[in-house]
Amino acid sequence: MLRLENVSKNFGGLPALSEVTFTVPKGQLTALIGPNGAGKSTLINCMTGVIEPSSGQIFFQQQQIASLPAYKISRLGISRTFQNLKIFPRLTVLENILTGLTSEGGDSMLMAMLRLPYLRHRERSLKLRALEALDRFGLADKANWPAEVLAYGDKKRVELARATVGKPQLILLDEPVAGLNAEETATVAEQLRLLRSAGHTMLLVEHDMDLVMEIADQVVVLDSGKCIATGTPDEVRCNPLVLEAYLGRMGATA
Ligand SMILES: Nc1ncnc2c1ncn2[C@@H]1O[C@H](COP(=O)(O)OP(=O)(O)OP(=O)(O)O)[C@@H](O)[C@H]1O
Ligand SMILES: [Mg+2]
Repeated sequence: MLRLENVSKNFGGLPALSEVTFTVPKGQLTALIGPNGAGKSTLINCMTGVIEPSSGQIFFQQQQIASLPAYKISRLGISRTFQNLKIFPRLTVLENILTGLTSEGGDSMLMAMLRLPYLRHRERSLKLRALEALDRFGLADKANWPAEVLAYGDKKRVELARATVGKPQLILLDEPVAGLNAEETATVAEQLRLLRSAGHTMLLVEHDMDLVMEIADQVVVLDSGKCIATGTPDEVRCNPLVLEAYLGRMGATA
C-alpha cells in the first residue's frame, strides 16, 4: 500500500530522518514506535505532504507522492490525525466530521446554489454518514455543539471520526490515545480493533505499548531518525537494539 525508500529529512542541517525504508502492507495495522524526537511525526508529515522529504521516495500504490501537495495526497485516499489536535473550533462537531467527506461532495458553487434535488439527497446521505461516525465514537449527542467547547478527549475522538469517515485507503494516526483517560482509551482501542478487522490499512504512532503489542501486525521502530527494527510485535519485543533504544529507556524511567 505504502513504500518508503531511503526517506531523509533535515531541519536546518540537522537530520530528523535518515534513510528510512519500510513498507505498510495492505489490510494490516503497522505501528510506528520510537522514543520522543525519533522522527515519527516528521515521517507522517512527509507521507501526507505537510513537509517534503529532503531526499528519498514515497510510493502510495505505486505512485510517487513525496513531492505532492497535501490536498492531492488526501484525495488519493490517505487520511490522518494530528498529534497536536487540528480541528475547526468554530464549526460544530458534525461540520468537523463533514470536512472529512469534502472530496465526495465536489460540486461547483453554482450547482450548490441551485440546490438540485439530487444534491440535497447527497447532502443528507453525507450527514447521515457523519452522524454514524460520531455515533461509533460515542459523540452523537454532541453533534451540534461548537467543537471548541468539547473536552480534550472528545476533540481527539472527533479527529479520529473525521479521519475515518471518508473510508480512506490508508489511515495515519499520530498518538490517537495520548492524553485520554482509561474509558476514552478503551473506546478508541475498540474502534481501532474494528477498523483493523474490517481490513483497513493503518499506520499507528503510539507510546501505549500494551495497545501497540496487542493490536499491531507489524512494528517499525525509529530511533534518532533511523529505522532500527521491523517485525512482528514479538520479534520487536525481543530485539536487543529495540530494548536498548526504546523499551529499555522506558523501563528505566518506569
Ligand atoms: N518543523 C521543524 N523544524 C525543526 N525541527 C523539527 C521540526 N519538526 C520536528 N523537528 C525535530 O525533528 C526531530 C523529530 O521530531 P518528531 O516530532 O518527528 O519526533 P516524534 O518521534 O514525533 O516525537 P514525539 O514522540 O515526542 O512526538 C526532533 O528533534 C524535532 O525537534
Ligand atoms: Mg510526534
